[in-house]
Amino acid sequence: MSCPFLSKLTSSYVKNYWPHLVKSYGQSCPFMVTRSTATMGGDVAKCPFLAENPRQVQLVEAPAVMQEDVIVKRPPFDYENFFREQIMRKKKDHSYRVFKKVNRDASCFPRAVESSWGDRPITVWCANDYLGMSCHPKVKEAVLAALHRFGAGAGGTRNISGNSLLHEQLESELAKLHKKDSALIFTSCFVANDSTLFTLAKLLPGCHFFSDEGNHASMIQGIRNSQVPKHIYRHNDAQHLRELLTTVDKSTPKIVAFETVHSMTGAICPLKELCSVSREFGALNFVDEVHAVGLYGDRGAGVGERDGELDNMDIISGTLGKAFGNIGGYIAASSQLVDFVRSYAAGFIFTTSLPPTVLAGAIAAINILSNRLIEKGFPVESDQSHIIPVRIGNPYVCTKVSDALLKTKGHYIQAINYPTVARGEEKLRLAPTPFHTKSMIDAFVVDLVDVWHDIGLRHVDCAKCQRRYDFADCSAQASSACGIPNCPQVSAVVR
Ligand SMILES: Cc1ncc(COP(=O)(O)O)c(C=O)c1O
Repeated sequence: MSCPFLSKLTSSYVKNYWPHLVKSYGQSCPFMVTRSTATMGGDVAKCPFLAENPRQVQLVEAPAVMQEDVIVKRPPFDYENFFREQIMRKKKDHSYRVFKKVNRDASCFPRAVESSWGDRPITVWCANDYLGMSCHPKVKEAVLAALHRFGAGAGGTRNISGNSLLHEQLESELAKLHKKDSALIFTSCFVANDSTLFTLAKLLPGCHFFSDEGNHASMIQGIRNSQVPKHIYRHNDAQHLRELLTTVDKSTPKIVAFETVHSMTGAICPLKELCSVSREFGALNFVDEVHAVGLYGDRGAGVGERDGELDNMDIISGTLGKAFGNIGGYIAASSQLVDFVRSYAAGFIFTTSLPPTVLAGAIAAINILSNRLIEKGFPVESDQSHIIPVRIGNPYVCTKVSDALLKTKGHYIQAINYPTVARGEEKLRLAPTPFHTKSMIDAFVVDLVDVWHDIGLRHVDCAKCQRRYDFADCSAQASSACGIPNCPQVSAVVR
């Protein structure tokens, strides 16, 4: 049965003005109300045809062309509620992050004033400013001079008014440091890793990744986003890498990506083996030296320099934000590779370049460190690396220990929970510096013991030397097999 209303109109009129007809008259139509009562109002009595011929109505499905234009009114997506629910999930599993308010004191690194529960003086034990370079008088001087001479910002991308002699000087110093042809600076090493790996993989024809299972999020992001095939090898396991490399044709472009000093465990990779396996199978290696630059090697060029492997490393990535005390990241490699990344990587091209203050500060820090390390050697290498994890294995307890140390003892060691580490691997991550004196370390160990007991944690073993850590006699353990004075490298047993 045709609609007595529509049939009075020409078919071309209906075709052309259908959406308007639906909007204007749909509310009065018994057929349309069955398509969406919410939209049309459902007032059957309004239909002039129905009122006269109530028995003649036979509802049928509307043709597709009519249905397409019906505006179905659904409640809009509740964004705020969605965000609230996602946050609640994090709060429930104790991975929700509350930032500590750490006001560092540039006149007496590593002291600070923490303001979460009122202002209290603290010692910072977990900063990545591994050598206190951010507070070094010469670094501060260089930053101030650059600020007065060049101003605060860079003024643009590298291509549009944001390049200067300082940018090129820093890149040349970094290339020299790592004994490579060229270097390229980015706004952070997260961006350097992500953009470099993504760009290489996207453009190298048929590229495959071979990625260490413990890799940092910045590398994982570049690798994932590139969507090229990836092979994950067991952490620091050169033999497993070899097995995986054999599965891909030698002529296929491949990138092997890994860290030298692992950011969370402090473990140092078997660099020589990893580089040599990569070379053997014709892969480029991408080596993240973020936690090693400034600290290892005669001039602070990292584990590659310490182990005499610089020539076997194809791409080195590093940060200016940790031992060099500033912010920013970089890669160092052959001039062709660097020019390629400079020319194609969106994360390099489309962003404001590093400001002169940072460039000058980083140049000063690199120079101070390479000279100082050559002269004296820095006493920062304990056991495998300068990163000392205290494993807790429970996010709630980890935060509790961290908060108690801060509130009651004035020691700040950040609780590291998921997703920075895997669930069950929650830890306190200590990064003592040359400015943490013997008496500070002694006091810290005694206070950690107190808090440990107060919270009800059981006895623990040193995760390195496997010896039981005797709280009653901390100093007796000082010369334990792992060789770390007052070894705090322990695991908690949660009751
Ligand atoms: C291993 C590793 N690579 C890269 C980065 C990123 O460095 P940046 O802080 O310069 O972005 C980090 C950051 O902590 C890291 O731990």
